[in-house]
Amino acid sequence: MKSLTPLLASLLVTSATAFRPIQPFTGHLERGLEHHLSGRRQETGKKGLIRVPLEVYSRNNGKTELQWLATITVGTPPQTFKVVLDTGSTALILPRGNCTDCGKHTLFDPSKSTSFSPQPGLFQPIEYGTGADTIPLNQTGRAECEVVTDTVSIQDRAVSKQEFMLCDSYGEALSSQLADGILGIGFNDISAWDENGNFTYLPFLPNLISDGQLPNRIVGLALGSGGKKHQQRGPEASIGGTDCARYRGRIKNVNVDETLTTLSGTFIVDVQAAYIGSRDSKQVWRNSTNDNKSLTPGAALVDSGTAYMLAPDRQTAEDLYSDISRDIVPLDDRGSWGASCATLDKMATDITFTIGTETGGEVVEVTMPKSAFNLGEYPGKKGVCQAAFSHSNPPFYEPVEGRPAWVFGSPLIKAYYTVWNAKGGALGWAQKA
Ligand SMILES: *[C@@H]1O[C@H](CO)[C@@H](O)[C@H](O)[C@H]1NC(C)=O
Ligand SMILES: *[C@@H]1O[C@H](CO)[C@@H](O)[C@H](O)[C@H]1NC(C)=O
Ligand SMILES: *[C@@H]1O[C@H](CO)[C@@H](O)[C@H](O)[C@H]1NC(C)=O
Ligand SMILES: *[C@@H]1O[C@H](CO)[C@@H](O)[C@H](O)[C@H]1NC(C)=O
Ligand SMILES: *[C@@H]1O[C@H](CO)[C@@H](O)[C@H](O)[C@H]1NC(C)=O
Repeated sequence: MKSLTPLLASLLVTSATAFRPIQPFTGHLERGLEHHLSGRRQETGKKGLIRVPLEVYSRNNGKTELQWLATITVGTPPQTFKVVLDTGSTALILPRGNCTDCGKHTLFDPSKSTSFSPQPGLFQPIEYGTGADTIPLNQTGRAECEVVTDTVSIQDRAVSKQEFMLCDSYGEALSSQLADGILGIGFNDISAWDENGNFTYLPFLPNLISDGQLPNRIVGLALGSGGKKHQQRGPEASIGGTDCARYRGRIKNVNVDETLTTLSGTFIVDVQAAYIGSRDSKQVWRNSTNDNKSLTPGAALVDSGTAYMLAPDRQTAEDLYSDISRDIVPLDDRGSWGASCATLDKMATDITFTIGTETGGEVVEVTMPKSAFNLGEYPGKKGVCQAAFSHSNPPFYEPVEGRPAWVFGSPLIKAYYTVWNAKGGALGWAQKA
């Protein structure tokens, strides 16, 4: 599920100029230090990183993986919720006990919590750009929420007065998702703002850090099954540092696009090119040697809460698929593409992106493996399977320079051990252990 913080929503729908981040971008110098610290503090137990097992929600007998959920508790005595670890947002969002369109979720009942406070009580509509499923939304979703306060815990770490969004209306996309709520673990140390556009509340992870309960803002995500060594080990997040046991080799760090990332509060990287297949094998974008064409450089929101890949516009998706097979066609008017399941499996291919910029950080090639190309049967269309890339409708261009903007969701993210370093302004990619 990709939720948009109000900030990101406004980035998409209007202009971003009204918003000022309170947390200055801290640059890259701290990164090495933080890795070092996280390694050291792991041994001291309590204040080190925590390893959070994630539950994967899927359909099509596990073929279509949709959401990775962590368990948190809220209130006194604790009420338990399953929340999406969402790098595409920064707030904690939960459904309120009186919600009538929140689906079958566990609802938070404030009257049963002695530590609950309805303050600050600020009304906060939340807009989101994609739902829990692989099919794009036909319109921006909207939940109606209020900012309230209570104790929030994950494993043995607790924030006693955590502000979060309690929603009495979820809207279709949130109510149909499998998770009860969303735990935004995005970039900014902010999760909401008031009517004047002033940022206010510290999200859960920054609060844990300022309280000395976590060493840093690094989250490592092992969403996919492990490599040979760790096939038995399920998906897992390490919060407060990287987990050396889950990756091998070096973590390649891509600096986030500073402007877009600070504005949106989510991890946005520059995209230089896309290739069908891998770049090493020279199967470049247009595979004929005289006509190799790379996609327009752009930006990509890298979002653990989206279960598919989203191309900036229809033309881009058309270009991509026309180089793979003419049999891959639009499936609906929302931007989904696909073909008959047997055909799609045969034409499945790796897709490689070059991300990052030379001016700081690394330029890295990341590959969505062909095993992630077929998202499984399209709901309601027997024998028709959805391909990993959909297109944005309307087109999605970032608001600062108007570059085409992608969303890289879990089909790419789960192929790697990813390291989300908010303080260092970097997104790391490593081979799974
Ligand atoms: C749910 O309860 C809150 C707080 O009492 C109230 O403000 C809100 O209007 C209620 N919502 C619905 C849908 O009844
Ligand atoms: C979007 O889809 C929902 C449910 O499928 C439908 O109720 C709604 O009318 C659609 N909205 C638009 C703008 O097409
Ligand atoms: C919020 O922002 C407005 C306009 O930028 C400013 O005038 C006001 O003082 C701010 N309020 C607070 C509480 O910071
Ligand atoms: C390039 O594409 C053509 C058909 O479009 C195919 O026959 C050929 O094998 C491809 N070459 C490579 C290197 O993939
Ligand atoms: C691929 O395209 C680039 C840029 O247009 C060009 O410099 C290069 O020579 C092309 N490669 C081949 C093998 O044609």
